[in-house]
Amino acid sequence: MKNKSTYQNLLTHRTYFDNTSLDDLFKNHPERADDFFLTIGEIYLDYSKNHINAESMKLLFEFAKEQNIQQKINDLFSGKIVNLSENRPALHTALRAKQDHGIILNNYNIHDEVNKTRQRMLRFAKKLNSGEVKGCTGKPVKHFIVLGIGGSYLGPEFVIDALKPFHSSPITITFIANIDESELEQSLQNLDLDECLFFIASKSFTTLETLTNAQSIQQRFMDNGYNKQDFQYHFLAASSNTQAALEFGITPENIYPLWDWVGGRFSLWSSIGLPILIAVGEQNYQNFLNGAFEMDEHFLNSPLHQNMPLTLALLSFWYQQFFGVSSHALIPYAHNLKTFPTFLQQLDMESLGKSLSSKGEVLDYPTGAIIWGSEGTNSQHSFHQLLHQGSHLIPVDFMVSLKPDYPANKNHALLYAQCLAQSRALMLGNKTLKAEQQCTGNKPSNTLVLNSINPHSVGALIALYEHKVFAQSILLNINAFDQWGVELGKKTGKEITQALQNQKYTGFDASTNNLLKLLNP
Ligand code: F6P
Repeated sequence: MKNKSTYQNLLTHRTYFDNTSLDDLFKNHPERADDFFLTIGEIYLDYSKNHINAESMKLLFEFAKEQNIQQKINDLFSGKIVNLSENRPALHTALRAKQDHGIILNNYNIHDEVNKTRQRMLRFAKKLNSGEVKGCTGKPVKHFIVLGIGGSYLGPEFVIDALKPFHSSPITITFIANIDESELEQSLQNLDLDECLFFIASKSFTTLETLTNAQSIQQRFMDNGYNKQDFQYHFLAASSNTQAALEFGITPENIYPLWDWVGGRFSLWSSIGLPILIAVGEQNYQNFLNGAFEMDEHFLNSPLHQNMPLTLALLSFWYQQFFGVSSHALIPYAHNLKTFPTFLQQLDMESLGKSLSSKGEVLDYPTGAIIWGSEGTNSQHSFHQLLHQGSHLIPVDFMVSLKPDYPANKNHALLYAQCLAQSRALMLGNKTLKAEQQCTGNKPSNTLVLNSINPHSVGALIALYEHKVFAQSILLNINAFDQWGVELGKKTGKEITQALQNQKYTGFDASTNNLLKLLNP
């Protein structure tokens, strides 16, 4: 990549910004706030507070073209094998596509499969919400408890949180992810087991945390005088491993399929998203899918220089390759978007945390950044000091909506003002104060403005970042769809668990051996 002439041109061009501040850029080019602004449906992106000018964007888009970006986008949507190490397509876009693109995989039409499963989900959600789903004692189910982790948890949790004002279900929805039983204990404390339905959300149906929690819950049923036959009333699953779900004792009508062409961190659009449908109801759920579909259409069909996900990807690429940036903050000025940074951590860092090319060659340039952040304005009173005056250059994505979540909210303008104040203060700093009080400014940010936080805009927002991550993986020449590091962690976890079970405290490195002995001296 570094040999390419455009990369070299970008390297030379970057020096222009050594002596040209963001403030200078605005003075030199008063229209830049309009020129570096994009709108897609209900989402506005102001990317003018970045270390870029027209030449930077021209070179960056040239670089994207050299990486064959349009062809790679087409390949993603048309079901080509984009996950080379696992020999799979990544077709999460098919889960929100409005029309049948005729993609046939493993002898089935995926559009038909998606629709069949969606119909089953809709019927079930209606039944549950109307009190027709009963537990083993005949009492209606009141609590829907999701057992899942990673992509089988973070997406649904974020969407359910983000769409709180749209909840219409009488059913409470709770997530249990951690293998630490404190979470399970605290979540079930005040609930009657016979009013709970446990949803095992696990694509592989082999994930230690999820299965251990499911087994602990079965044990609880037994300890409370229920028997195995009662499980069929209290467990359902979303999984691509139907056999394992059946063996776990879940009845076929309670197993919702998903497919190996849906990656875990992209699976919230599949049956893993059943809790979202339950929470917000059919119409809102459809709007949510439509929002993502709108962003898909934009990503696939719009001219590259107006392509919002690609623009965001290029900006991240620019900072990582040419400014030595290794971390990127995400600060939603919206309480209901507070878990977006956590969701994005998995999406971005599991996808781009690679130092090998998609063909396994060692890369000599930086790849995925450290993604972090939390809700504004709370974050202002916590880590913004480091953003303003610290020694790291950390680009920020600010997010805010034009309308409040509830019409009666009176402080929305204050919230909006704080968001704008932060990006402005980061950009301009303050140079007139005493030396020790000075902030240099010149810190870049994007501001994403949503018309309002609603099912459609949240769907579009997630798809925006999914595509940003994909586009970045193409620029970096890495596979966004595998996670061999996580797999290594899982494998080592199994070996150490086995050692503990067999009380064998040798055979590992000396540090691990000692730490094992600490637990069982
Ligand atoms: O965190 C690693 C991972 O493999 C993710 O990619 C996935 O979303 C998560 O584990 C959960 O996996 P599963 O849905 O198979 O339980």
